[in-house]
Amino acid sequence: MSYCKNILETIGNTPLVQLNKVIGDIPATVLAKVETFNPGNSIKDRMALKMIEDAEKSGKLKPGGTIVEGTSGNTGMGLAIAAIIKGYKCIFTTTDKQSKEKVDALRAFGAEVIVCPTNVEPEDPRSYYSVSARLSREIPNSYYPNQYDNLSNRMAHYEQTGPEIWEQTEGKITHLVVGAGTGGTITGTAMFLKEKNPAIKVWAMDTYGSALKKYHETGVLDKNEIYPYVTEGIGEDFIPQNYDFSLIDHFEKVTDKDGALMTREICRQEGIWVGYSAGTAIAGLIQLKDQLKKDDVVVVIFHDHGTRYLGKIFNDEWMRKMGYFDKKGFTAADIVSSRKNVELLTIDKKDTISKAMKMITENNFSQIPVTSDNRIVGSIYEKLVFDKILSNPDSKNESIESIMKEALPFVDISTSIDTLAKMVSGDNEAVLVKDFKQDKNYIITRFDIADIMAK
Ligand SMILES: Cc1ncc(COP(=O)(O)O)c(C=O)c1O
Repeated sequence: MSYCKNILETIGNTPLVQLNKVIGDIPATVLAKVETFNPGNSIKDRMALKMIEDAEKSGKLKPGGTIVEGTSGNTGMGLAIAAIIKGYKCIFTTTDKQSKEKVDALRAFGAEVIVCPTNVEPEDPRSYYSVSARLSREIPNSYYPNQYDNLSNRMAHYEQTGPEIWEQTEGKITHLVVGAGTGGTITGTAMFLKEKNPAIKVWAMDTYGSALKKYHETGVLDKNEIYPYVTEGIGEDFIPQNYDFSLIDHFEKVTDKDGALMTREICRQEGIWVGYSAGTAIAGLIQLKDQLKKDDVVVVIFHDHGTRYLGKIFNDEWMRKMGYFDKKGFTAADIVSSRKNVELLTIDKKDTISKAMKMITENNFSQIPVTSDNRIVGSIYEKLVFDKILSNPDSKNESIESIMKEALPFVDISTSIDTLAKMVSGDNEAVLVKDFKQDKNYIITRFDIADIMAK
């Protein structure tokens, strides 16, 4: 009889599938390593099991223990599956940006999930990194795998993903293309492949709003690079220890919109149902197509499954709301180019309420984006500032943090006026517009949109 003794034995040995249509006129052979075939439907099953088994060996994880981890979903799924088979309890922290499907799926496997705010610094006690670190200190007999700095993460790919790709391509691989988050997949896989053939080019796929590309190019963690983005699973606002940047030849940034649209195309044109970072990887590869030749063999990692994005990328209403569909007619770019004073004014979260009041009255603003370390983390509103001063005049010297609300949504500069109009209905007075290619930010208010629509 041929069977697996439990589900964990089905991890790995995923297929390599040629992409035939979605790559357009790229001259090379492009092969996708389709990691959705793992039992948790993502590549993260590999490193989750490896982290648990290494912790068992070192005595950090003891029988009946509780695994506490900050995870955007896929690592949690891998840990939850392994925990079921091995008899551990799981508590995960995640961010409110992650797809609801991912959180529900973790709960389906019996894990406890704590959802934390996205737009706070990693060091902030409310961040999902901090909450998981704190819980692991407080809960007895708990183990905190810390996928970011735990080198078992990249070793899983050094031991499995790299050798599988080498064998499947019979050593012919010339380029490895990987969406980069913790850095485990790209570093571990690249480490093995470059040992076999140092000439293999390794391209990391990053997203606008992440600090990774700039860090790779300059060695500086530039907080100005960091702002909220929509893409899931890739990009970081700090540098995890799993990275060995010397193994990565190039980082390519892809917009949220291009990644989302390409994810849908992979499903429609190739019949392969995968998640956001797969779309980002193919969109980024197309951006780099001039560097590829006919005889090249490119392997692209497809990290996770499309089911996790049913409420987002595979939901037309969400795509429309995000402004990822409509390219006709006026766009945000038309509003921006029609204005004289285009610079985005912001206020730091440590600035005082009286400074906010001065900015609001002098500029006739209704709202101002709030920054921390030059990164947009929230917004303040005219009404809240005035209410605060009216209820307690002494509060003018307090920092605006106490009245700060969520950051305004960011959209791409090519977003249509129709979409913008829907976004500024109800409580939402304005949106932030990013011109990714020029690296400039603007604010567009309900007034701006009504003004152009009335013309
Ligand atoms: C969907 C998805 N893509 C890409 C990545 C990045 O992989 P790594 O963390 O190994 O760099 C992750 C990691 O969480 C992910 O969940």
